[in-house]
Amino acid sequence: MDATQVIIGESAEAPLLGCAVLASALAGVHPSISEAVEAMVRPARRIKPDADAANAFDALYDRVYRHGFSALKPLSHRTSTDARPETTERRGVVAASLLAADAGHLGDAADAVLHAGADWLHVDIFDGSKASNGALSSMGPQTVKALRKRLPDAYLDVHVGCRDPAAVVDALLADGCSSGLTFQFESCASLDAARALAVETRKGGCDVGVCLAPETPISAITSLLDAGLVDMVDVLAVAPGRGGQSFDPVALPKLRALREKYPGLRLQVDGGIDGATAPDAVDAGADVLVAGSYIFRAGDAAEAVAALREAFPPEASPQGKRWPWQR
Ligand code: DX5
Ligand code: ZN
Repeated sequence: MDATQVIIGESAEAPLLGCAVLASALAGVHPSISEAVEAMVRPARRIKPDADAANAFDALYDRVYRHGFSALKPLSHRTSTDARPETTERRGVVAASLLAADAGHLGDAADAVLHAGADWLHVDIFDGSKASNGALSSMGPQTVKALRKRLPDAYLDVHVGCRDPAAVVDALLADGCSSGLTFQFESCASLDAARALAVETRKGGCDVGVCLAPETPISAITSLLDAGLVDMVDVLAVAPGRGGQSFDPVALPKLRALREKYPGLRLQVDGGIDGATAPDAVDAGADVLVAGSYIFRAGDAAEAVAALREAFPPEASPQGKRWPWQR
C-alpha cells in the first residue's frame, strides 16, 4: 500500500464496500484485490495519512488480511464455483425467442430448438400496452410454468414488456419457474421503481436483466449497473413487441459502450438477429444473441443456431461443451 496517500471513496459504507471488494476477489469475479478495488471503488478525494497510523495499519493488514486471504482463497473459490449456476460462464449464448415459434405447439417447439443446439429459451411477455408498442404476446406466467414443467433444466430467459412490470414479475417470482427476468426499463415508473424491481428479482433467485428500447440511452441505467444490481442488459435492436423487424444498428454503439465500461456484464442483443447481423453484434460486445424469426423460420433450426454460434470467437463457444439441459 502507498503510505503517502489514502483514497477516500464516494461510498460512505466503507466496511460494506470493503467486504464486497474482498468477497468479489475471493469469489474470482476480479482476479485480485487491487483489480477489484479498481473496478468497484470510485475515488472522491485523496488525503495524506498519519504515517504512524498507516504503518500500524499496514502491519495489521499484512498479518491478518494477506495471510487470511491466501488461506481462504482456495476454499472460497471452490464454494463459489459449486454455488454458481453454469450459466454465468463467459460463454456465447444463443437464445431462441419463442415469439416466432408455433404457439399451438410451444412445448414441442421449445424442446426441438434446445435439441437443435440453442442454449436458452427467450420468452417474451407483452401485454399490448405502450411498453410493447401495442403488441400482445400469447405468452405469460402460465406459459413459463408449463415450459418449466416440460423442460425442468432449461434456462428460461423471460422478457417482460408490460404496463405494470412489478405485477408480472411478482407473479413470475411466485411461480419460481424463470431462470432470468428482464424487464423493459421504459415501463418502470421511475428509476427507484426499476431499482426495487431489480432488487426483488435478485431476492427471488432470478438473474436480473434490464432491457433498453432503441431510443433509451445507456446513461438511463448506469446507476443500476454501477450498484451491481443487474446481471444482464438486453439491448433491443428493434422496437419492443414484435418479431421479424429489421436490425437497427443503433444497438451497436450501445453494446460497445456497455462492454467497454462493464467487461463482466452479460450483454444480450434482441431483435433482427440473423447470420448477417450477429457478427456485428458480437464484435460490439454482445454475448447473448436472441433470435426468433431467423431460427424458427429457417428450414433447419440446427443450422441456423450453428450459424449464429459462428459469430462467437472459438474460445467463447467451445466445441462439444454442452449445457446441463443439452446432455
Ligand atoms: C422483440 C422481442 C424479441 C423478438 C425477436 O421485441 O423482444 O425477442 O422475438 O424476434 P426476431 O428475432 O424475429 O427479431
Ligand atoms: Zn425479447
